[in-house]
Amino acid sequence: MLNPSDNTSLPVTPLHIAIIMDGNGRWANKRGLPRAAGHQAGFKVARSIVEAVGKRQHKALTLFAFSSENWRRPPTEVRLLLELFMSALHSEVDKLMDNNVHMRFIGERSAFPDKLREQMNLAEQKTAANDGLKLAIAVNYGGRWDIVNAAKKLASSVQAGEMTVDDITEETFAQRVCLPDCGDPDILIRTGGDQRISNYLLWQLAYTELFIDEVLWPDFSEIELDRAIDSFASRERRFGRTGAQIGNGKSDA
Ligand code: FPP
Repeated sequence: MLNPSDNTSLPVTPLHIAIIMDGNGRWANKRGLPRAAGHQAGFKVARSIVEAVGKRQHKALTLFAFSSENWRRPPTEVRLLLELFMSALHSEVDKLMDNNVHMRFIGERSAFPDKLREQMNLAEQKTAANDGLKLAIAVNYGGRWDIVNAAKKLASSVQAGEMTVDDITEETFAQRVCLPDCGDPDILIRTGGDQRISNYLLWQLAYTELFIDEVLWPDFSEIELDRAIDSFASRERRFGRTGAQIGNGKSDA
């Protein structure tokens, strides 16, 4: 796992990949199709990328499927996205089992209909013992929500006398945000060209390499995935040190 204080074992391939799957709406508009068609095409791509990543040596994949801000979309689009998640849970869990994928959801799920929450819990339970790819789907997720949640957990532990204020450190905080067992993402891929983090994994992305792809998500494929991974391999990850300190002779900038 990557640790900014230890540069002795930096992987040339990302262990944890995070993706913002953007551009479904624009993809559909360009074709004169309803936005729903873009999301359906986007779902097929998500499925193929999960499969591709699972076959490689990466350990974790975290996909941003629905942000806490996406509730602001027209109700018909929100309903469609929720239906898509529901049918994906029905159709995909067996395949995840075949591929040894451990699936989890991150985000505030209390806002979802009971039936959907039940299916999410079932899918998590069913795949919990799989020790292959750790797949996290961020739904009704926001990075600030994640940080506030962690702060509340720490405050409760202090209030209960289980720890002191001085025990609140980056390490104890990191244990209480989502996905403490995955390590921070090594690379964030964002499709659709926008150069923003959009309230995704704010704590976890502190040292993550960013790869912004102009390609719209429904056009993303293993070719683009390879480009992102090749780009990652050529990056110099200094974690605050100088180039000379990490011994590669490149510039210190
Ligand atoms: C952003 O495109 C995409 C979303 C808000 C939804 C992402 C959902 C999927 C890819 C399908 C479901 C996936 C899983 C894993 C169940 P946008 O609508 O913001 O596109 P735009 O920026 O072009 O309008």
